[in-house]
Amino acid sequence: MKKKILVTGASGHLGGMLFKSLANLGYKNLEGTDLKKKNIDKNQKFILGNLKNLKSIIKMTKGVYAIVHFGAIPIEDTQHNILQNNIIGTYNLFEAARINKVKRIIFASSNHAIGFHRRTAKLNQYSNQRPDSHYGLSKAFGEELSRFYADKFNIKSMCIRIGSCLEVPEDRRHISTWISYSDLTQLVDIGIRHKAIHHEIVYGVSKNKKSWWNNSRAHQLGYKPIDSVDRFNFHSLSKNEHKDKMALLFQGGVFTSANFKGNIKNIK
Ligand SMILES: NC(=O)c1ccc[n+]([C@@H]2O[C@H](COP(=O)([O-])OP(=O)(O)OC[C@H]3O[C@@H](n4cnc5c(N)ncnc54)[C@H](O)[C@@H]3O)[C@@H](O)[C@H]2O)c1
Repeated sequence: MKKKILVTGASGHLGGMLFKSLANLGYKNLEGTDLKKKNIDKNQKFILGNLKNLKSIIKMTKGVYAIVHFGAIPIEDTQHNILQNNIIGTYNLFEAARINKVKRIIFASSNHAIGFHRRTAKLNQYSNQRPDSHYGLSKAFGEELSRFYADKFNIKSMCIRIGSCLEVPEDRRHISTWISYSDLTQLVDIGIRHKAIHHEIVYGVSKNKKSWWNNSRAHQLGYKPIDSVDRFNFHSLSKNEHKDKMALLFQGGVFTSANFKGNIKNIK
């Protein structure tokens, strides 16, 4: 593809991985951005920018066809930091996209937007948001923001509720949540290219037998995961949630039990 694609969070783990894997898929006109420059090769186009600064985002989204939005704080943080980087940052990005007539945005959402669902629930694209943290709330906001910009301004979007994207699974929770780099790349590619997309919620998960998510919408759009957690040896996985009974009840794991002051019985 020759159209210009902007990757935010390009110095980070997943943004950096996608910046390279999309080039390998044949994307010829990629530009990366981040607030710091890290692990960027000489042949990669890169521009420094802070999502908090609307003016600089407007500048860098000129002539862009699609944005792969992975720039954010990826874990729980203070309300202030989440508000500034994830909520205002994402709002600025969509506003800049509207001003510059960007056509599509692929949004890195998270399982923590639905983390207070029980592990016994099988979720799909229509399942209610149930954020488990300020971080998860920022992802729920991003999903609704992208729905609004799709309905109101026709900016197409795909929100990927990413489980755990690592080279290999590391913890027992990943038996349900793991997604490989190539499967995540495949989903992002579908988000950029698929003609029938308006506003989509899909799950960023490989073909795992014990997945908590019915990913039929992703499959309808052509997603064919090539990886599965089930080929790994589970005995070597860590058991980070092992002593946290609450974490074991809910999809968001330890994000749900951190600073918890509620009543578990009320979260049905
Ligand atoms: N890693 C996972 O398994 C996982 C799971 C669910 C969701 N996600 C989401 O995927 C995205 C990438 O996660 P990651 O694991 O690569 O995290 P990461 O921290 O490695 O990368 C995030 C990048 O965003 C940049 N960034 C943060 N605030 C910014 C700002 N205000 N302006 C510009 N750049 C900013 C950081 O500098 C960093 O390079 C995040 O949105 C995260 O919430 C990741």
